[in-house]
Amino acid sequence: MVKIACIGAGYVGGPTMAMIALKCPHIEVVVLDINKARIDAWNSPELPIYEPGLQEVVAEARGRNLFFSTDVEKHCSEADIIFVSVNTPTKTRGVGAGFAADLAYWESAARTIAAVSTTNKIVVEKSTVPVKTAHAIQKVLERNCVHPGVRFDILSNPEFLAEGTAIDDLTAPDRVLIGGRDDLESGRAAIAALKEVYANWVPEERILTTNLWSSELSKLVANAFLAQRISSINSISALCEETGANVKEVANAIGMDTRIGAKFLNASVGFGGSCFQKDILNLVYICQSEGLKEVADYWNQVVLMNDYQKNRFVKRMISSMFNTISGKKLAILGFAFKKDTGDTRETPAIDVCQGLMDDGAKCCIYDPQVKEQQIFRDMATAKFEWDHPTVKSGVNPYETQLSTVSDAYAACDGAHAVSVLTEWDEFKTLDWQKVYDSMVKPAFVFDGRNILDHDKLRSIGYIVYGLGKPLDPFVTGN
Ligand code: UDX
Ligand code: ADP
Repeated sequence: MVKIACIGAGYVGGPTMAMIALKCPHIEVVVLDINKARIDAWNSPELPIYEPGLQEVVAEARGRNLFFSTDVEKHCSEADIIFVSVNTPTKTRGVGAGFAADLAYWESAARTIAAVSTTNKIVVEKSTVPVKTAHAIQKVLERNCVHPGVRFDILSNPEFLAEGTAIDDLTAPDRVLIGGRDDLESGRAAIAALKEVYANWVPEERILTTNLWSSELSKLVANAFLAQRISSINSISALCEETGANVKEVANAIGMDTRIGAKFLNASVGFGGSCFQKDILNLVYICQSEGLKEVADYWNQVVLMNDYQKNRFVKRMISSMFNTISGKKLAILGFAFKKDTGDTRETPAIDVCQGLMDDGAKCCIYDPQVKEQQIFRDMATAKFEWDHPTVKSGVNPYETQLSTVSDAYAACDGAHAVSVLTEWDEFKTLDWQKVYDSMVKPAFVFDGRNILDHDKLRSIGYIVYGLGKPLDPFVTGN
């Protein structure tokens, strides 16, 4: 029986391996992590991540041919194919800080593999990594391997799943990309072995094979292009507000051009998630390192536009609410970076809430999937302005200006404004009359995702700001 091990039981490793196990009952799949609490959760009824459909997939395969364990050494030593799906955050210090990917977790995983391998291994890069990482990893593996003659074949197999739709994306991927050393016989055999795994459910024409560097780069470029589309439409949302155009109508009109396409054109308060910003910064760093300043500046602008959009939203709220939000309760609906996930990494809500709290507002947050503890942890890492009076008095604002509740109505009760930051479906069907009745007047709605029925809200009495839409008379300039 072929055995697959995966180091890293996170948002990528967990669901991907669960799908492989589901579709390949003849393969034993073991997902490994150094974080015992995470593994315990994968082995329990309450999985560590929220993802529609995941529970069912895990329930079918777990205990049959899908296992979760902290015994990294044992299972890596036994495996034929080892996926590495550890975190690769942006470096916070040293050379490339703020841009380059931190490969410390990857290197440590590679050292473990090298130390325990007594048979040939196919090592698969699943985490997003900088171009040419495979080269560095090959060296770490070969130089640290204690057993002579063991061969490591490195493959790049980037994951393109999006959170919230991971199971659908894994079930029917647009494509599976496998990069490897097609100039070597062992490299070709490794590519074929991995291809055989996916061929159990993915049509062959959707499995692309490339050289290693193309595969590594494609992942960064795919995310850069996707993020660029959002920054592009967000930049147009600012122009729409100034000119009286409607960004939804513009997006619809341009999206019908098949060359442009309709997807990923929703203007928003900003993109978040663990990948977009990190991958673009990584791309920018690579371009800089290669002396391509103009190319680096071009892509960096996608991130700067995203920051501008978050800032613009905060300023719009403040200026509309008579330039003063100090002491006012503001209901924040949604904290996750998108709907159908509990993930808050790089969520625009952190920056928006920080901006509002810097101005003295009291943010009351409700999100159906993000736990209170997580929100407080995220906001504790926000960098408040140190000349802010609350901070100056020695109090961290998140202790006095931040609260969370477990339903949307409680968040809105007594609030001056409601701000929609995540497009959760349940916000669309709230009893908006009931919400209005419980709010301070004039009652504002700032729809950062354009999911609500704005005309209906206006007829109830709300002053409404829809991102990128013609402005209500009471909604004032930036
Ligand atoms: C992304 C890529 O889509 C995926 O292929 C890759 O593997 C990982 O990164 P993810 O971050 O999970 O996936 O979510 P995605 O759906 O791409 O959304 C990213 C951010 O963009 C979210 O904050 C989302 O709200 C925002 N977004 C998306 C918009 O603001 N407008 C859109 O039209 C689409
Ligand atoms: P992603 O979104 O890319 O899946 P996550 O942060 O959700 O990233 O998951 C990465 C996981 O990898 C974490 O659970 C972390 O504990 C695990 N991890 C990191 N380094 C190692 C290692 N050397 N051995 C085992 N697990 C590791």
